[in-house]
Amino acid sequence: MLEPQALAAALLGEVLAGRNLNEVLSDLWRREPGLPPRVRGAVQDLSFGALRFFSRLDFLLQALITRPITHEGVRCLLLVSLYQLIYSKTRPYAVVDRAVESARGMDAPWAAGFVNGVLRNFLRTKEELLARADGFEPARYSHPQWWIDRLRQDYPDAWEAILEANNSHPPMTLRVNRRQIEPEQYLALLQEAELEAEMLEGGALRLKKPVSVDKLPRFADGLVSVQDQGAQRAASLLDLAPGQRVLDACAAPGGKAAHILETADVMLTALDKDEARLKRVAENFARLNLKGRLIAGDAAEPQPWWDGKPYDRILADVPCSASGVVRRHPDIKWLRRPSDLAQFATTQRTILAALWRLLAPGGKLLYATCSLFHEENDDIVTDFVASHPDAKRLLISELPSGQLLPSAEHDGFFYALLEKSI
Ligand SMILES: C[S@@+](CC[C@H](N)C(=O)[O-])C[C@H]1O[C@@H](n2cnc3c(N)ncnc32)[C@H](O)[C@@H]1O
Repeated sequence: MLEPQALAAALLGEVLAGRNLNEVLSDLWRREPGLPPRVRGAVQDLSFGALRFFSRLDFLLQALITRPITHEGVRCLLLVSLYQLIYSKTRPYAVVDRAVESARGMDAPWAAGFVNGVLRNFLRTKEELLARADGFEPARYSHPQWWIDRLRQDYPDAWEAILEANNSHPPMTLRVNRRQIEPEQYLALLQEAELEAEMLEGGALRLKKPVSVDKLPRFADGLVSVQDQGAQRAASLLDLAPGQRVLDACAAPGGKAAHILETADVMLTALDKDEARLKRVAENFARLNLKGRLIAGDAAEPQPWWDGKPYDRILADVPCSASGVVRRHPDIKWLRRPSDLAQFATTQRTILAALWRLLAPGGKLLYATCSLFHEENDDIVTDFVASHPDAKRLLISELPSGQLLPSAEHDGFFYALLEKSI
């Protein structure tokens, strides 16, 4: 059945069973190449939306039933339908009718009547149930309790605003390839194409409405890339100069590596552990007409791939929980476990220590994550500096804490710039 609601329910089931949303979406597009764009868009909206508000929807569903639902397909169909009833403009009776129709196609003869009863009951008691949901933090903020507690601990003043931003729609922002065109000129091309956009600090262009990249003027010619404004800070923080040897140690898919090459005539090595993801770096470099050396290797174990010559600049955009970009990947909130943070922290410490040995005296290393948790950010860098007398943390004047919080302009990122003594 190619009904968006049923397709989104199936995807939700796969994610709740432990799979990544992007992967299950790509699988669906491959299996159903003929899906009309309207249906694809609707499936995407519904699956992202149901995951964005999963714990709120789940709370409401629990309140509407007397016994646990043992059929996962029925449960997911109800969660997606509740999402539509609360957050979409589709008329309620149409949502219920389609859900009942989808339930008829399931291998459970009781499903249609059950789905009909639960959804109609919701429509009757909606206001009271929503008020009840607001009294329980995971249902109020649509995050796991441990995540809320962590943010409250790390950001006593900002945690609620962060949770709210995490549940908003992310902006679509472009990085202009200044080797080819200036941001003002590309803004004019966007206007000619009737795409509304505005320039953010640093020349990033934020579109009023997201579009597919094939609608962007001369995207295939490499004039622009899609990249969050927060991610666009890395290249300028690196303080690049022509002729420098630069290592991007966790480079795939190559957004920041490409920006480095667009910014200065440096000799760039782009390393990544994941060979398949490294192919995307090659594709991005080819589209943007940039040249760098690509190596598949482990940043934590440089010996097999390092040529022994120190680097002037190193970007360590280390693997992390991605807690700063959950509005782009709402599945992360439900797939992560609290214990993952300590594991990420161990990897981050190991990679940082290994890369430090490759940095030239007087060189600079930029440590970066797209996380908000101190355990992966400030704690790592503070401990590192305390145990490495040759490391000095430089002040980033426009971002003294190093931490960018998610906002209308950018995602959540962390940057720390370290200099090695001569
Ligand atoms: C946050 S992403 C990097 C994003 C990239 N810098 C960009 O701007 O497009 C982290 C990357 O680190 C890679 N990675 C994870 N562990 C690694 C390791 N030990 N050595 C090298 N790369 C690693 C992952 O495959 C992933 O591509």
